[in-house]
Amino acid sequence: MVLTHNQLNYSSLSEVTGGKIQDFSDSMLKKKQAEKDIIGILKKRIRNDIKFFSDSFSGREQYREKIYFMISDIVNSSFAYSGLYIDDELLEKALSEIFGLGILENYLSDKKITDIFIQDRQMLVIKDGRKQFLGEVFNSIDDVYLVIDRIKLASGKTVDQRIPFLNTELYDGSRCSIVIPPVSDRVYITIRVFNCIDFELQNLLGLKMFDINTCAMLKKFVADKNNILIAGATGSGKTTLLNTLVKLIHQNEIINLIQDLPEIRLKNHPFARMLTTRPKTRETDNEISQDRLVYETLRMKADRIILGEVRDCMAAYQLLQALNTGHRGSFSTIHADSCNDALMRLEMLAMEYRPNLSSRVIKKTVSRAIDVVLFLECELDKNLDIKNRKIKEIAEVADCLDKRGEYKLIFH
Ligand SMILES: Nc1ncnc2c1ncn2[C@@H]1O[C@H](COP(=O)(O)OP(=O)(O)OP(=O)(O)O)[C@@H](O)[C@H]1O
Ligand SMILES: [Mg+2]
Repeated sequence: MVLTHNQLNYSSLSEVTGGKIQDFSDSMLKKKQAEKDIIGILKKRIRNDIKFFSDSFSGREQYREKIYFMISDIVNSSFAYSGLYIDDELLEKALSEIFGLGILENYLSDKKITDIFIQDRQMLVIKDGRKQFLGEVFNSIDDVYLVIDRIKLASGKTVDQRIPFLNTELYDGSRCSIVIPPVSDRVYITIRVFNCIDFELQNLLGLKMFDINTCAMLKKFVADKNNILIAGATGSGKTTLLNTLVKLIHQNEIINLIQDLPEIRLKNHPFARMLTTRPKTRETDNEISQDRLVYETLRMKADRIILGEVRDCMAAYQLLQALNTGHRGSFSTIHADSCNDALMRLEMLAMEYRPNLSSRVIKKTVSRAIDVVLFLECELDKNLDIKNRKIKEIAEVADCLDKRGEYKLIFH
């Protein structure tokens, strides 16, 4: 059924021709209503068009043009005299309704929100470092599962009773993890919002992650091609800091970025090559591990290797080998509680892969491979909200061990 102009009660034309100046808020309301109607018709057309999604689903951006033409057609046929203009806002609204995540969209685009937690119908966000409980924002649990369906559809992955976990990225690059009952008591969706990770070094200075002297020191570490390991707890800002350091790399250097999810994207760097691991899932039984990508990277002759996070023992060992055989200026992150702990974690991972090597040999390999360790810590306020993320320790690692066979660290 195609709605007629009259049925939609969108009468700005007659008012304009009648010479009346329409009240602004009234016209805004009518515009909103018309947009809602248009999107409603659009959704109906898509539902009735079995061929609409026949191309392999590659994301909403690929459908932008198609949707634009469909909206134009609806406006021409049903809203011809409305004077309605198809602007970016209308197009975005339509795309969000069709491909987007409904209510979540508002939170994903809020630059101050870093994390979103959904537990059944309830939502909690971290805004400006503070946890805010928003209560029951979903009308029903079905709406929550609708969001999950959208995430599944866009990622091509599954989450169901058999495998009740899903780790993926959202269309905007946000990192998302889903757990559903019966493994958990409720549906849990955890999102690390992407738009917050893309800072410049100067922004982090402004946020007091470090002072001006440290800022200069970090720039020098990158320019001098030091191998840098960034350590800290979950959410302490490791990836954020890594991202800003990677952006300082000279345009003429070839960079291989190895990540589990493409959190760091060097859009303006001509020689940035992104490699992403692939877990073994029901859809793809061909797992691509971190160590495989490090191995391939060595053959791709990268000037710098950026490993998003060291967590795989074989990859840790391979990375150490690579760093000891001339790959200067490589960066990575690791979960650890101090600079010293970071080196020990790396050592333990490598030992796990090569248990027959002596601890001293591995320690020596680590001390030669890593030049600088940066340790990040979250400062919490009395409510246990994050007040600030800070570089707590900066340590240069000497190439050799001390007399007791321990790492020699020079703290700044
Ligand atoms: N200096 C800062 N000020 C404010 N927010 C920050 C700062 N550094 C990082 N953040 C925010 O904190 C969140 C966590 O940062 P990030 O993902 O870099 O942490 P991480 O240590 O890599 O965490 P994980 O261990 O989970 O990978 C991000 O949303 C980021 O935008
Ligand atoms: Mg990280």
